[in-house]
Amino acid sequence: MSNNFKINNLPEYFKQYKKSIKNPKKFWNEVADNNFVWYQRWSKVLKYNMEEARITWFKNAKLNITKNCLDRHLNKRGDKTAIIWEPNNPSEEAQYITYKDLHQRVCKMANVLTELGVQKGDRVCIYLPMIPELAITMLACAKMGAVHSVIFAGFSASAIASRVKDCGAKIIICADGGYRGNKTIDLKGIVDEALAQHPSGVESVLVVRRTHHTVNMKDGRDLWLDDYYSKASSDFVTKIMDAEDPLFILYTSGSTGKPKGMLHTCAGYMVYTAYTFKNVFDYQENDIYWCSADIGWITGHSYILYGPLCNGATTIIFEGTPTYPQPDRFWEIIDKHKVTQFYTAPTAIRSLAKENSDWVKQHNLSTLRIIGSVGEPINDEAWHWYNDHVGNKKCPIVDTWWQTETGGILISPIPFVTPTKPTYATLPLPGIQPVLMDDKRNEITENQVSGNLCIRFPWPGIARSIWGDHQRYIDTYFSSFPGKYFTGDGALRDEVGYYRITGRVDDVIIVSGHNLGTAPIEDSINLHPAVAESAIVGYPHDVKGNGLYGYVILKETGETRHKVNLKKEINLLISDTIGPIAKLDKIQFVSALPKTRSGKIMRRILRKIAEGDFNNFGDTSTLLNPEIIEEIKRERIE
Ligand code: PRX
Repeated sequence: MSNNFKINNLPEYFKQYKKSIKNPKKFWNEVADNNFVWYQRWSKVLKYNMEEARITWFKNAKLNITKNCLDRHLNKRGDKTAIIWEPNNPSEEAQYITYKDLHQRVCKMANVLTELGVQKGDRVCIYLPMIPELAITMLACAKMGAVHSVIFAGFSASAIASRVKDCGAKIIICADGGYRGNKTIDLKGIVDEALAQHPSGVESVLVVRRTHHTVNMKDGRDLWLDDYYSKASSDFVTKIMDAEDPLFILYTSGSTGKPKGMLHTCAGYMVYTAYTFKNVFDYQENDIYWCSADIGWITGHSYILYGPLCNGATTIIFEGTPTYPQPDRFWEIIDKHKVTQFYTAPTAIRSLAKENSDWVKQHNLSTLRIIGSVGEPINDEAWHWYNDHVGNKKCPIVDTWWQTETGGILISPIPFVTPTKPTYATLPLPGIQPVLMDDKRNEITENQVSGNLCIRFPWPGIARSIWGDHQRYIDTYFSSFPGKYFTGDGALRDEVGYYRITGRVDDVIIVSGHNLGTAPIEDSINLHPAVAESAIVGYPHDVKGNGLYGYVILKETGETRHKVNLKKEINLLISDTIGPIAKLDKIQFVSALPKTRSGKIMRRILRKIAEGDFNNFGDTSTLLNPEIIEEIKRERIE
């Protein structure tokens, strides 16, 4: 992305912003025209209908994102490091993969996948730990026009089965196992279990060797990558893609049990992630950029892989955890690789802030220029700790607000341009038109107000649909506030127009930066034979942001088992069906749940009780069983 598109000061930001709102098509036309290689130019910049959620950017353009991430860098940056891979165990050597190497490895991988019958448009599920092959297989899919769907390697067998089934994948790429801290995870075993639950459609499982432990290989289905990769050619003819061809599907939680496969397409996503990466991280040619997220989430897709590589950057992929082998691992990596931009989540910041600050002081973090936060609201204390101890009060904090659905960052300070304000994501990036709506669907135009955060106009990175269910896409995002995209978040706008995201206003809870729907968790608890009904709410947690509090009604079966065992079984069930990230912190057995006359659980009351606030229940006149509140209050888990 050329420096001409970098915003350098506040007046320039306001000028660019105004321009982008007055004539968005002209604005994005210029960005797209000047920074990418295209096989064919577009015939129309934007066509959209917000009611029907039909959005087309760069219509009829022909491209391949990997030409922009890899091939075009080969002449000028062939020997530059594209990826620094930092392994879980610091005694294993880091890998420095140049653009030339990466291009070659991606081409070989694309040939392997072609040999296995993968074609343009086929869906490929990737269940890999944070090893180079994760980036390589994603880029290989993009190069050959296959649609990748990465499943975070912390998800359970059932979560894999439902995703594989929903997207109709014909191949799964996994590893024998993965390392995380002092744990080894049997990834291949989990995939076997998933395929036992959903056997149809998947023709092959391609296994990458990482842990070298013994795994079961099913004849005719399971294949070792090594056997194919070593023989594969490194010449591959890149597939020419249409601007609106699918690039990837990434699942996110919803308010019903079924995860939503957010569909992102080729051109708009590329333009948006590359543009925002350049501006939000003030990327300069010799920077060493590190985003500590997992590639299994959108943050990793957009800001470990596609955004940085489109800019020819050096990006770090870290396999491990912040506290292994010691709580200074992040600081050690920043010091070791001379990181210039560091991007992480408030949960990680809060948990590391709890450690002795000597862990930070032991390392030289002076190369850092910009530090970022993403995934959940950053509280004041964490913001200041990050600013004081990591940024040494000289690095702007970019508190970036966005979503899986938005493809890239929508609201964020531009470093050295937008004055930061603790806990505020501040101002919209060019092209983004946030609006606050009240519950009666009226737009709130004043400042110093809060409301439901919507976006008025499309931007290139917005998801185009939910895979296989466009109606659900319309219903979820475009119908609550007709004509606008509804984010599901609440926000506050201050006196100068800065935005502060206050949290979800729907049934999604952000735990440690992970989006969790209450419905899927409740569904899995209700699978327990002793459980009649359950309700999950979030409560403030000093490390995770939100903890999960479950209210569970047991069936009247004369259940005699100890409640402690039941709690363990419930969490085991959640672990098995969703993943350990969704385990409950607190479980309270109740004889009933507060319900309205129409049978709806009044979650507001349950939330208040979980928080320990017994005074502000609001209007309870529609409750069918107000007497239950006393019991629930009395037996609340501290
Ligand atoms: O509630 C917002 C929160 O994370 C949600 C999106 O989650 P996901 O799709 O998993 O994507 C996370 C990474 C982009 C949002 O609806 N969120 C994300 N960033 C912030 C945030 N909340 C407050 N401040 C942020 N910077």
